[in-house]
Amino acid sequence: MSFKHLIDFNDLSLNDWEELYNLGLDIKTNEINYKDFCKNKILATLFYEPSTRTMLSFEAAMLRLGGNVIGFNNPSNSSVSKGENLKDTIRIITNYADIAVIRHPLEGAALAASLYSSKPIINAGDGGHSHPTQTLADLFTIKNTKGSLDNLTIGICGDLKNGRTVHSLLKAMSSFKDNTFYLISTPELKTPKYLTDMLTEKGNNFYAVSSIEECIGKLDVLYMTRIQKERFSNIEQYEKQKNVYILDQEKLDLAKDDLIILHPLPKVDEIDQDIDFDKRALYFIQAKNGMYMRMALIIKMLQTEMPPVTRPTNDSESIKCPNSKCITHTEKYLPTKLYSSNDRNTSYSCLYCDYHVN
Ligand code: CP
Repeated sequence: MSFKHLIDFNDLSLNDWEELYNLGLDIKTNEINYKDFCKNKILATLFYEPSTRTMLSFEAAMLRLGGNVIGFNNPSNSSVSKGENLKDTIRIITNYADIAVIRHPLEGAALAASLYSSKPIINAGDGGHSHPTQTLADLFTIKNTKGSLDNLTIGICGDLKNGRTVHSLLKAMSSFKDNTFYLISTPELKTPKYLTDMLTEKGNNFYAVSSIEECIGKLDVLYMTRIQKERFSNIEQYEKQKNVYILDQEKLDLAKDDLIILHPLPKVDEIDQDIDFDKRALYFIQAKNGMYMRMALIIKMLQTEMPPVTRPTNDSESIKCPNSKCITHTEKYLPTKLYSSNDRNTSYSCLYCDYHVN
């Protein structure tokens, strides 16, 4: 594997992805062969935000590999409630565990954790930013049903602004050949500019549209998402957005017979309950696939040679990230980390949260 931590889907090369996919497929088919792969190893799960699938599938993955799990799912039961900062928590946990998974409400938290970690860190969702292991479940399900991750027409519907699974999926699917995207949202919840810029740079065709009906007939994959109530600062704005898109039988009648419907889950009202029994609805299988891919990821990452932790360096004294949801605003010791977001090195973005900084 070419990566030490999994913070963003693009940490994986296409070869890494192929290796993980093949391993995940073998685990799904021959799970018994892997039952002792992680014997005497410990996974730490640090969940600063609620989770059903990601936390429990990581725990199930480690237990099915013969390993053990420690962690917390409510930071108020840990010393975080006494004011311990993220870097100290990470330096302690990584004395106890061989690998750690972190979910946090602030964007860039997993990257921040990785700067202070002597063990592999996996991002299980950082605010509305990224969720790369959900993408492993998504891509595994698409490849297993469509046979390829190239030449697909993919509709992504709902909260494209705050949906971290959407952001990671776009990064991933734009790395494969000749995919076309229909970005279905209201103007208020449209895809962040850094991602549409990325699609343009990579030469992907994409269309921002306002209804499911205008594109569903063209789609190979429809990725529905929940409106992310927890990311809204104003409940009235959430109420206006929450039922704009509902996939029901009438709309599904316009779709191809071999469409697949994915959803990272949890879902609320955006998919009519009857659709759950349509053969095209794969979201419960998708969640199960996530467990096999997390088993593959744990096995591969535990083979990683890790360097010692050294003091992280500052890329700039003067530039601060303007995104108030970025982890750098609360964990103030964090160094500024930037990357160039154009070819001329005149535009920079925050490495923690991808927010444009100048
Ligand atoms: N898909 C997903 O991240 O679900 P949870 O929030 O339940 O982990």
